[in-house]
Amino acid sequence: MTKITKAVFPVGGMGTRFLPATKSTPKEMLPIIDKPLIQYAVEEAIEAGITTLIFITSASKHSISDHFDPLPMLSEKFEKAGKHHLVKKLQTLPINITRMFVPQGEPLGLGHAVLQAKEIVGDEYFSVILADDFIKPNGHNATKQLIDAAISKQASVISVEEVPDNRVSQYGIVDIGTATSEINSILSIVEKPSLADAPSNLGVIGRYVLSPKIFELLENTQSDKGGEIQLTDALAQLLNKPNNLYAATLNGKRYDCGHKLGYLQASIDSALEDKEISDQVKEFIKNI
Ligand code: G1P
Repeated sequence: MTKITKAVFPVGGMGTRFLPATKSTPKEMLPIIDKPLIQYAVEEAIEAGITTLIFITSASKHSISDHFDPLPMLSEKFEKAGKHHLVKKLQTLPINITRMFVPQGEPLGLGHAVLQAKEIVGDEYFSVILADDFIKPNGHNATKQLIDAAISKQASVISVEEVPDNRVSQYGIVDIGTATSEINSILSIVEKPSLADAPSNLGVIGRYVLSPKIFELLENTQSDKGGEIQLTDALAQLLNKPNNLYAATLNGKRYDCGHKLGYLQASIDSALEDKEISDQVKEFIKNI
């Protein structure tokens, strides 16, 4: 494999932690300042060389498709009024990018969502991006880091970061033994272990580059106790052979926007860097 051009965005989740905001709006459409989470994720993918976006959706997610559609009437109106900055804001996707929407059918877990992309991905390595793991776009591109590592290792690579003890049970956790560099071979991986059972504090972040072998493994992965097919369980089967699965240490700043606190932290951090409002935000925080 010399390049990776397809990215899968599982967006079929129910977003229960953000109800009622997510009753009719997908959580991936929640904005950090003025841009939805899904658009940050898509921009990261495109910057990393991805040209086909595959969204795995559920019934109430039409707004994600709408968001990436052109809006010619409004664009023309802004154009005529000389409001070019607004025209630019409406351009949410370059025209050379292909997008596809695949219904997940039932919300049966991340592994099940990824499996729905099997026919479109075919026999190629591909990227998986969970938009609610927001990685600040300045400087570090996690998807590009994984793609480069996968090409160099000719293997699957997933993004990891140390997580605090009280969060260990909310992540896939990997054991890499003694880290030797930024990219390390994975010895074991387990989905959401208790702190006592966790092999380390290295949590899997929502960025993956996977070999197409994963589809066959997912097809043969049993559902967990909650009835979900976990991607982590299929990844664990990749470890039957050596040098099949690597962990890349995330260099960027990430916020878990699947939780209220992470979402607020991401918003505050981004506001403090937004030229238009940062001074007023600082002043506001000082006086709050
Ligand atoms: C999923 C994965 C988990 C991973 C996490 C990253 O969990 O199952 O292994 O660590 O994404 O965000 P979820 O957040 O969907 O519960």
